[in-house]
Amino acid sequence: MQRPSMFAACENGCRALVAPDRERLLAGAMEIAGVEPEATAHTPFDGVYHVGDGLLLFTGSFPDPGGKLMARGVMVPRWDAGAVGGGEGLVPPLRFYHDHDSLLFSCALAYMLDAPLAIHGHTGVGKTELVRYFAALLGAPLYRMNLHGLSTTDDIIGKLVPSGGGAVWFQDGLVTTAVRRGGVLLLEEMNATGQEVWFALHGLLDGSRALTLVEKDNEVVHQHPRCRIYATFNPAEYPDLYPGTKELSAAYLRRWASVRLEFMEFDMERAILLERFPAFVEPAYMEILETMLQVARVSREMLLNRSRAFNFVFSTGTLEAWASFVPHIGPVAAAKMAFYDLLDDRLKAIFREQVFSYVTPWDLSLLDRPRR
Ligand SMILES: Nc1ncnc2c1ncn2[C@@H]1O[C@H](COP(=O)(O)OP(=O)(O)O)[C@@H](O)[C@H]1O
Ligand SMILES: [Mg+2]
Repeated sequence: MQRPSMFAACENGCRALVAPDRERLLAGAMEIAGVEPEATAHTPFDGVYHVGDGLLLFTGSFPDPGGKLMARGVMVPRWDAGAVGGGEGLVPPLRFYHDHDSLLFSCALAYMLDAPLAIHGHTGVGKTELVRYFAALLGAPLYRMNLHGLSTTDDIIGKLVPSGGGAVWFQDGLVTTAVRRGGVLLLEEMNATGQEVWFALHGLLDGSRALTLVEKDNEVVHQHPRCRIYATFNPAEYPDLYPGTKELSAAYLRRWASVRLEFMEFDMERAILLERFPAFVEPAYMEILETMLQVARVSREMLLNRSRAFNFVFSTGTLEAWASFVPHIGPVAAAKMAFYDLLDDRLKAIFREQVFSYVTPWDLSLLDRPRR
């Protein structure tokens, strides 16, 4: 048997493995850790294994220099109680997650290499869910921050606040807290925010890996050895869909590793919806579910081919919202509640005439009838 190459284990306790196939990768992990890897039981597929109590093995499949597909693994130590410190409340609960396109592996690789990871994709395709699940698997605190056009360095780095008697003290912002204590830092909608925030984060993203608190006598806060930075980005090529999205300079983007999330394949989406909404297992609802997936498919094709005319993102999140209402009020009224009523008249007409009438057998008269 070819032994998995063991690249020098990082100081941070992570380790990269490679083998010709997954079976041999798992055997290699067993040889290293002395226990057999066990698939994590939270979800039907996530490509992640427990190796004893303390380690996780994230697997993926990527070519070697000759182009031959190899099984790859990244072993990451789980966070124990000591490392979590007082941050237990911030460790996300484990819920069902369906890994795809080696996304969890990519998160683990970035974790091992301490590379800030930018996750690009439309709204509702699973960017937040990916990082949340990753943190949950590791048992790590998640510091999540929504950025927007009005975010300031006060929010993210910190600010001086009065402490009575004319004195002031410096209150850490969320980023500073994560950088001090360690954890998975998730900066949401990074490209919705402005220059001021990007500049404040520069030091954290470049080689110095430190924040300077200008308002606190230039205190330098070095990145905790277990702090990792993830961010979500809206696709920059759809300015109509994401108003306020800024083009980031090449200098800034260079500091991030990146993965792109596309719309999920239907089999996965179906599995997720069935898991989250078990009512759909009944045959009558199964049929409705298939029709809903077709509505999503046609909507996405229209977005991809004619994003100017059809500027609506039919995401997994939209499907979930829709599915949550269907068992109570049926698919048409549920569509109204989940997304249709929010659209402008032009988009409503496109939905009616080019999506719903095209793929559904439903009575659409309910769609535009005012409620009584
Ligand atoms: N891989 C996945 N496995 C399970 N559920 C998912 C997955 N991807 C997305 N979802 C579901 O889709 C919804 C939207 O995902 P979210 O992470 O909020 O999207 P984004 O952050 O890209 O806007 C979530 O509520 C989640 O339940
Ligand atoms: Mg999100």
